[in-house]
Amino acid sequence: MKIKPEHIAIIMDGNGRWAKNLNKSRRYGHQQGASSAKNIVKEASSIGVKYLTLYAFSTENWGRPSKEVELLMRLFLETLEKEIDELNENNVRIRFIGDRKNLKDKLITKINNAESITKNNNGLKLYVALAYGAKWDIVNAVTNIFHELEKGMLTKEDIDEITFSKFLQLKDAPDPDLLIRTGGEKRISNFLLWNIAYSELYFCDCLWPDFDKNEFERALEFFASRKRRFGVSTKSC
Ligand code: IPE
Ligand code: IPE
Ligand code: MG
Repeated sequence: MKIKPEHIAIIMDGNGRWAKNLNKSRRYGHQQGASSAKNIVKEASSIGVKYLTLYAFSTENWGRPSKEVELLMRLFLETLEKEIDELNENNVRIRFIGDRKNLKDKLITKINNAESITKNNNGLKLYVALAYGAKWDIVNAVTNIFHELEKGMLTKEDIDEITFSKFLQLKDAPDPDLLIRTGGEKRISNFLLWNIAYSELYFCDCLWPDFDKNEFERALEFFASRKRRFGVSTKSC
């Protein structure tokens, strides 16, 4: 049997270019992107992937034109409303990672509700990175560690890589084994910097709305072909 990643993280990029190629609006591109995300969640779930983390909106994406930000926020809200029952029926546990301070109350309520409804599900653990930036994640961890030091709940000696990682957003998940980025760019764009230290990186030109079961399979083939060494040589001198 082929080796399967336990945790897959995906930078879902290329919705705008996909729409432009078809002379359609960016809105249409994002809608089709949401549909592609739904299909990949189903697929990951059915092949037994344990953790899936999807990059939906970055800290830097707040800098896009306000019309696009608004339509994305509306799309997140509508998609969550539409999909939550099916996700729950499929035993998916959903959690959101990111900085919620700029999200609208209505969306925060839906997010809390979705997390609470699915909290005891033991199928796919789905993380949606929304208003997420890895630099924010790290600074947020440092701030929270500082508070615990002040309160005496932690001492300086307690701080090591394991303790630090327990303050990050993905504290309950193993590090991603495979990071996929669609859309042709070979960059990380402030996603999970700490957690991807040893992830296998797969970049493809396919634009996110076109990322289907076959494209997913290709990424899994790539992963299965990698020799992971984690810095440890297996050959004797
Ligand atoms: C990814 O698609 C979705 C988000 C970043 C929210 P883009 O909107 O970045 O699409 P391109 O990269 O412009 O094609
Ligand atoms: C990365 O895509 C963020 C998400 C997919 C949510 P961007 O389109 O924002 O990244 P850049 O601007 O090409 O680096
Ligand atoms: Mg993009």
